[in-house]
Amino acid sequence: MKLAEIPTPALVVDLAAMDRNIKRMADFFAGGSCRVRPHFKAHKTPAIAKRQLAAGSCSGLTCATVGEAEVVVDEGLTDDVLIANQVVGPGKAVRVAKLAKSCDMKVAVDSEFGLNDLAQAARAAGVDIGVLVDVNVGLPRCGIAPGASALELAKLIDSTDGVTLRGMMGYEGHVVGIEDRAEREPRATKAMGRLLESVKMVREAGLPCEIVSAGGTGTYDITGGMEGVTEIQAGSYALMDTAYAKLDIPFEKAFSVLGTVLSRPRPDQCAADSGHKATTQDHGNPDVKGIDGASVMFLSDEHATIALPPESTIAVGDPIELWPSHIDPTINLHDVMYAVEDDEVVEVWPISARGYLEQRRR
Ligand SMILES: Cc1ncc(COP(=O)(O)O)c(C=O)c1O
Repeated sequence: MKLAEIPTPALVVDLAAMDRNIKRMADFFAGGSCRVRPHFKAHKTPAIAKRQLAAGSCSGLTCATVGEAEVVVDEGLTDDVLIANQVVGPGKAVRVAKLAKSCDMKVAVDSEFGLNDLAQAARAAGVDIGVLVDVNVGLPRCGIAPGASALELAKLIDSTDGVTLRGMMGYEGHVVGIEDRAEREPRATKAMGRLLESVKMVREAGLPCEIVSAGGTGTYDITGGMEGVTEIQAGSYALMDTAYAKLDIPFEKAFSVLGTVLSRPRPDQCAADSGHKATTQDHGNPDVKGIDGASVMFLSDEHATIALPPESTIAVGDPIELWPSHIDPTINLHDVMYAVEDDEVVEVWPISARGYLEQRRR
């Protein structure tokens, strides 16, 4: 099948570019003590995770949800899994305990509530679940305050049956996207200082802390170069998006949303079938690939309205590609990705962990 024959809207992966990205990340960590734990949430696609793991320098996979971890385990991608997120909500801890029977399962925890839920499920299932203290390093989201509070939680984890304290994590999501390295670097270093100080306190209290997990695509070489950080949870680097492409990082855009031109009502405008239901705009409108001077004016449910240079020859029925601004939520809208080499579709990959799998199982 040729690229132009793919039913649209659809996700297209430039296989060669993606493999270069994966190799660059693996090469960066090769030979050092810090590993990369690719974040599965970025693409939710087993075929990509397999390539990331095969490239080397990996400690395992990171997941954001229990559903992703279930796919990782069911597909046998790795037996080293970290859910770098709180597992709180009906039935989730029980599902994690089930997974812990067949893999080295670790979960981030920032509350006594979450800890007790996990520990209870682990005891009922007769398993042990690894726990990382999730430390707030500056992103106003999850994570317990660094320092004394983090140490208290570590002590509680260590004294709770059914779980084992394995380490600490802190995600510096408030800085990963800062375009200027001169600002990104000191802010990432400061954020990691909060995590590493907490790690020190935990170790000085005689508690185990084998894993120190942090980082993302925008900080892989900053956080990943810091003494004491054992792994980086980067996800976007494999496929990239226009937001991350603004940074000075050595990863290429390898992923686009393919649409078809539905209408060209005026020389300076067209409408394609790649609207909100095909690509997200939470990090800004997507860019238009391959047409100099073209830009997305706005998205509607089923349409992307695109400003064109009037001399553009693009016509109704032609393919048109958009570079998404944020890959994770865009990918979650689709069922498959088309892996393309030189305009030829070489593989079609199921996005196996997209959506909320538990709803499909009902
Ligand atoms: C907990 C956590 N770790 C790591 C990442 C890094 O992902 P990326 O490489 O896409 O920046 C994210 C992204 O949101 C995250 O939520």
